[in-house]
Formats: sequence, structure tokens, C-alpha cells
Amino acid sequence: MKGFRCMLVTWKNIEDWVSEVIKKIELDKYNPEVIIGLARGGLVPARLISDRMQIKDLYAVKTEHWGITATPDGQARITQTLPINISGKRVLVVDDITDTGQSLSLAVDHVKNMGPSELKSATLLHILHSKYIPDYYADVVPEDKWTWFIFPWNVYEDLTNITLKIMDENQVTIESLQDIYEKYFQIKPKKSQLNETLSILIKKGKIVRDGKIYKKL
Ligand code: ADE
Repeated sequence: MKGFRCMLVTWKNIEDWVSEVIKKIELDKYNPEVIIGLARGGLVPARLISDRMQIKDLYAVKTEHWGITATPDGQARITQTLPINISGKRVLVVDDITDTGQSLSLAVDHVKNMGPSELKSATLLHILHSKYIPDYYADVVPEDKWTWFIFPWNVYEDLTNITLKIMDENQVTIESLQDIYEKYFQIKPKKSQLNETLSILIKKGKIVRDGKIYKKL
């Protein structure tokens, strides 16, 4: 079984990272009038930053790049362009993380073409191999510490994808699934989270339950 390092991010992590990003924006005396969140990962961070900075002009651009959890899906592309005019405005573009950096770099170029007076970008996390460096970020991740961050708004998308990958090779029980997560993905999801994950997969017709055992169809 080939795993990868994961981290189950808590809401406390998110609040701390948002505070750190805002501290950096304020130290830099940047005063954005408009926030643009990148759907989907940047939507919650953008909303939290807009709340803390009292900025009500909050919009979204959608980029798509990552397909199944932790697997990039070809080239990044914009699938929803900016729906309003931001010409002459001071803008902040927000995402959760820069990993390859492609999504944010694409979105920043897209917004730049729409003539803002100033344009800066912010993420919660920045992986050091990213080709694009955001203006503000809370924390850096060294390349050799690459991790898949399971954000609180993405828990079931990630756990269903990873669980299906595990079940390609193994029939599981809740207990064996917990052990596999710990050994190959370095996280300990709660039993309630694994139960919910398996029940989503049953509802979607991807797996079946036979007593304590769950297997792929
Ligand atoms: N999106 C792109 N890279 C990511 C990562 N390393 N963790 C979580 N979400 C991501």
C-alpha cells in the first residue's frame, strides 16, 4: 500500500492561520476593498478574512486542477471567471494553499487583466516548491515535508477518496481502516468520521457492508 503523509487540519488551525495572514496584511498596510476567493478551497478562508477585515465585497473565481485527493488533474484551468467589474479597485485574492502554485497564478493573472489598481494574494499555507509565491501566507511547508492537508471543509471528499484507494487492495473493518490510516497516512480519523465515510460510500453504491466487513463492489 503506497500512502502519503496527511494532516487532519482543525478549525483552531484555521483560525490561527487566518489571524497570522491578517497580521501580515496589516503590517504591510495593505487595505483591500474587494476579496476574491478561489473556489473551492479558498472560499472559507476568503469568507473568514472578509469577516475579520470587515470587507463585504466578496466574490469567487473557480479554478480546477486537483482531481482525486492528492492527484493533480492535468493543467489548472479557470472554470468560473470573475462575475463583476473590479477595475480600479484594491483586490486580495485568497486560496487555502499553494502547492504547484498553478491555480493561484492563473487566477491572479485573470484578475490582473481586469484592471485592479492594486492586487495581492494570500494563502493559509505555502509549500516551498510552489512556482508562485503568495504575497501573504501564514505558514510554509518545506518540500521534503510535503503533506496532504485535509481541511475541515474537505474531510469527507478526502476520506472517501483515500478510503476507496485503500479498499482497492484491502477489505476493511473500521478497526483495520483506522490502523491503515495511521500506518500509511499518519492520521487518526475518529471512528465516527470513518463510519460516516463508509456510509457515504455505501449510499453512493461504491462499497458494500457484510457484517463488520466493508468491501468494494
Ligand atoms: N490542494 C493542493 N495541494 C494541496 C495539499 N497539499 N493539501 C491539501 N489541499 C491541496
